[in-house]
Amino acid sequence: MNISPDLLKITNLSKSYLQNNKKVGVLDNINLNLKHKNSLAIVGPSGCGKTTLLLILAGLLKPDSGKLLLDGKIHIETTNKIALVLQTYGLLPWKTVSDNIILGIQLQGYDIDKAAVTEIKRTLGIVHLDKLYPEQLSGGQKQRVALARVFLLQPKLLLMDEPFSALDAITRERLQHYLMDEYRKRKFGFIVVTHSIEEAVALGQQIMILNPDAKNVDQIIENQEVFNPGFHSSKSFFDKCYKVHKALLN
Ligand SMILES: Nc1ncnc2c1ncn2[C@@H]1O[C@H](COP(=O)(O)OP(=O)(O)O)[C@@H](O)[C@H]1O
Ligand SMILES: [Mg+2]
Repeated sequence: MNISPDLLKITNLSKSYLQNNKKVGVLDNINLNLKHKNSLAIVGPSGCGKTTLLLILAGLLKPDSGKLLLDGKIHIETTNKIALVLQTYGLLPWKTVSDNIILGIQLQGYDIDKAAVTEIKRTLGIVHLDKLYPEQLSGGQKQRVALARVFLLQPKLLLMDEPFSALDAITRERLQHYLMDEYRKRKFGFIVVTHSIEEAVALGQQIMILNPDAKNVDQIIENQEVFNPGFHSSKSFFDKCYKVHKALLN
């Protein structure tokens, strides 16, 4: 049972890096709430701290200050409740697709459910890639392998760093649909960070705009229509993109 209505609650989170022996602030007093089984897109220009924020949420980087609660409990370390898809896919070049897909489960010491593995490969259209190595795959195929790996882990919270930004428009849209289908089936919470306005509107039930100057949250735009059938090709999709675009330029 969930003990908190919030899957993730972050209060006054700040982070700085040392650059040339000088402390440079990257995130300043970020507050964020994500309810169970909801999705959030975080948008901001390159260099505004999106990857930093995800690494902190995944427990891979320590913030300077702030409070992180996962399921109502203090969260400071990596946990199998959270899975992260990196910008660079995180595939091991010396392992086949098949082995890369089960790597996450193996590392966590779980038994491999062969039927679940096959079902996910089928859903993502990667059954035929089993014996290939990552260098033999296109960007879209690598991203599908990375997604298969995290879907198998069945995390409560899926974190994704610009997952589809490097892909062509058609592949991107197809993978966004895969993600949403999987989400509808399994109902995990997810956070996607992106510099792409369309990606944010296609995936986020809420869209958080980061302000690169103030280094904190500028505003949150509601996007509850994201799960409506046909939304992605509707006028309201483009209206929402325009709204996010305007918010980013302000
Ligand atoms: N390990 C690090 N050491 C010093 N500065 C860093 C480090 N990682 C990131 N930065 C700086 O922090 C800022 C935010 O980086 P990042 O979180 O990668 O932004 P984004 O993902 O939004 O492009 C950038 O100015 C970057 O140069
Ligand atoms: Mg980044």
